[in-house]
Amino acid sequence: MTIQWFPGHMAKARRQVTEKLKLVDIIFELVDARLPLSSRNPMIDEIINHKPRLVILNKEDMADPHATKEWIRYFKEQGVEAVSVNSQAGNGLDKIVKAAESILQEKFDRMRARGMKPRAMRAMIVGIPNVGKSTLINRIAKKNIAKTGNMPGVTKAQQWIKTAKQLELLDTPGILWPKFEDPETGFKLALTGAIKDSILNLQDVAIYGLRYLEERYPARLEERYGFSALPDDMAQVFHQIGERRGCLSSGGEVDYDKVTDVIIRDVRNSQFGRLTFDIPPEKA
Ligand code: G4P
Repeated sequence: MTIQWFPGHMAKARRQVTEKLKLVDIIFELVDARLPLSSRNPMIDEIINHKPRLVILNKEDMADPHATKEWIRYFKEQGVEAVSVNSQAGNGLDKIVKAAESILQEKFDRMRARGMKPRAMRAMIVGIPNVGKSTLINRIAKKNIAKTGNMPGVTKAQQWIKTAKQLELLDTPGILWPKFEDPETGFKLALTGAIKDSILNLQDVAIYGLRYLEERYPARLEERYGFSALPDDMAQVFHQIGERRGCLSSGGEVDYDKVTDVIIRDVRNSQFGRLTFDIPPEKA
């Protein structure tokens, strides 16, 4: 698999995040709860350079709730606070403020002890495309339309969204790039729609999805497609799904491209229920 990542674009993205780092107390690293590892930028630690951070597992409504709990526990064990939310519905937003307060408590206590005037925490959302950064920002903005003015000392005007009094959020997210050297990560990103459909061969992506379901969620695979174990011959699998779902060409033959679409759409539209594709390292 050869994937061309554009170094110029990555350097620019990184510069934009780095420039804004000094404006904030805390980074909200948004990931897809279905892929808490694969949807992270692997250079995030280096990029945010010891800035306090809260990992937000977004789209919890689509992820396996048991796996989400495991992931939050895993991050905690690594010394990283994590919460899960559904930005689309606006569920769990209060958890973000609470967790940020707890992470920054010492810093703000120190500031108070030095006689500094109390102020709101300042945060910025970062994450790879499609994890829900704009959705979360809009959710927070809708609830709290009052925007604070520009910050002094900032060359380019920054808009802040004031939320729940204690928190100010930069209204533009830091966009990071996804990165994968191993094909599995690529397949997971493609399967959930995190990278463009043109990057990988979609039939391979669909087959990866079927195999993953067979391994982790066999009952759901059986319920929807009638297989609990997949035969080695994938053509047979595609054929059966195609007949079952009416993916036929005009000549009445099973159309493999249509079957591919059906499988990928079924995963993306949660037709197999709530799925998580990354397993915490010690459980894998
Ligand atoms: P980005 O800024 O990080 O690139 O992501 P964005 O907010 O554009 O969200 C990407 C897609 O994910 C959107 O769907 C959005 O609605 C969806 N999304 C965001 N948060 C959640 C969530 O918590 N749960 C679920 N189920 N979906 C979420 P879309 O299909 O691209 O657009 P649309 O359906 O909203 O029109």
